[in-house]
Amino acid sequence: MIEIVNVVKRFSTNNGHADASDGCHHRRNAVDGINLTIENNTTTLIKGPNGAGKTTLLSIIGGMARPTSGRVFIDKKDISCFPESFLSEVRKKYFGFIFQNYHLIMGISVLENIMIPAYTSGKTPKKIKQKAMALLEKLKIPSLANRKVEYLSGGEQQRVAIARSLINDPAIILADEPTAHLHQDLTMEFLKIVFELVQGGKSVIICSHNKLLCNSGIVDRAIELTDGKVVNDVHMLAN
Ligand SMILES: Nc1ncnc2c1ncn2[C@@H]1O[C@H](COP(=O)(O)OP(=O)(O)O)[C@@H](O)[C@H]1O
Ligand SMILES: [Mg+2]
Repeated sequence: MIEIVNVVKRFSTNNGHADASDGCHHRRNAVDGINLTIENNTTTLIKGPNGAGKTTLLSIIGGMARPTSGRVFIDKKDISCFPESFLSEVRKKYFGFIFQNYHLIMGISVLENIMIPAYTSGKTPKKIKQKAMALLEKLKIPSLANRKVEYLSGGEQQRVAIARSLINDPAIILADEPTAHLHQDLTMEFLKIVFELVQGGKSVIICSHNKLLCNSGIVDRAIELTDGKVVNDVHMLAN
């Protein structure tokens, strides 16, 4: 379970310099006092216009960014005060990330891309490779294992990104605009995979403004952000 309590994130807009006494007034909070509890084994959609704070909130949930104030609890553990070394443990243990534009590493193979997040897990390379191959099977692209990622189609890249997010068997998958560059049929494919992950006990949190996702029937909850605030929070009716 994820609990977010009074979370605020403020960026200084003058390129990271603390002193903003230059008359620049663009200092509204990117995330502006959010309180949320997200249950295990659910599919949550975070929607809202560009600049609403979706990516910032997702980064804070996943321990990739720290809130300016407020607290983030993962399974009752307050990760907002963890030092970086513990935080990276938390990231590895709990989260799989599907980044916007996937962030696959060009020049190396599909298999190597998928294995990367597991290298610091203490598992043997052989075990990691087995797991990566099993994920490629699961995502129905085992034949792509040795291909370099730059030769993949958009849909294939998407699957590689999903496989990579699953390599450490995280409880929670965080996906930022995962369907931004996909056609409708590939978007539906993605949703099918999400559905199966949640059937298998995982939680998925997706940031997107794609209407297809909201109306797909697989989302349990749609949280709408505007200007860093929750303006709508709809729990879909269980079938
Ligand atoms: N690293 C950053 N430095 C400064 N401002 C940022 C940074 N990241 C995001 N912002 C600002 O925070 C607000 C929310 O951004 P973001 O979380 O990316 O929104 P969304 O994902 O909903 O489009 C925007 O105004 C954006 O310009
Ligand atoms: Mg974003």
